[in-house]
Amino acid sequence: MSDQMKAKAAAAALEEVKGGMRLGLGTGSTAEHFVRLLGPRVRAGLDVVGVPTSERTAALARSEGIRLATLEELPELDLTVDGADELDSELALIKGGGGALLREKIVASASARMIVIADASKKVETLGAFPLPIEVVPFGLGATRRAIAKVLEELGYTPRLSLRGGDASPYVTDGHHHILDADLRQIGAPRALSDALLRIPGVVEHGLFLGLAAAAYIAGDAGVEKVEP
Ligand code: 5RP
Repeated sequence: MSDQMKAKAAAAALEEVKGGMRLGLGTGSTAEHFVRLLGPRVRAGLDVVGVPTSERTAALARSEGIRLATLEELPELDLTVDGADELDSELALIKGGGGALLREKIVASASARMIVIADASKKVETLGAFPLPIEVVPFGLGATRRAIAKVLEELGYTPRLSLRGGDASPYVTDGHHHILDADLRQIGAPRALSDALLRIPGVVEHGLFLGLAAAAYIAGDAGVEKVEP
């Protein structure tokens, strides 16, 4: 059911794709629907080039015959289409459940427009029920983890901070970093949290996407709703 919804949201976003566009290609099951729907259009002659946000998406896009480029070759993109783990009515997002948040944020930031595609279960009043992914460098992991916990406590959270994959085999991102997932329950002031996290040495990026999404296609029982902030 939810997978059908994801496909419907992806199909709605596909309508925004025009020939000649430079596209950011997101990561995750919803973004994969988009890439799978884009493939046949490309094979039918639609001329677009994609910049993938993960090795996984790159492999899928290649298998669909979508021409790929890097941000070195194409530093400015027209449109990025990507999923989200949570989105609020202002289109503030939590992303990174699939571990691709760093490349996703770089690609979205290089795009004139970012469109989110999601099923209605991702819509929330306040961000934070989904644990916030925080990407960190492996060096100094223990110290960085302590520093993050301290900052979160200073901001009034009682965080549960877990290393994705556990200590024995921590998850490794495409950029060779690790991810700490911070269960914060409710994020009252996302901008303040974002700023504080980015000041910690060892933190590479986090999954709060603020002011990046221009629109969202959200698929629910009543159809696909377009939301703009
Ligand atoms: C990957 C992401 C995904 O967009 C997010 O996790 C949503 O995934 P899905 O579409 O599978 O629900 O941020 O890093």
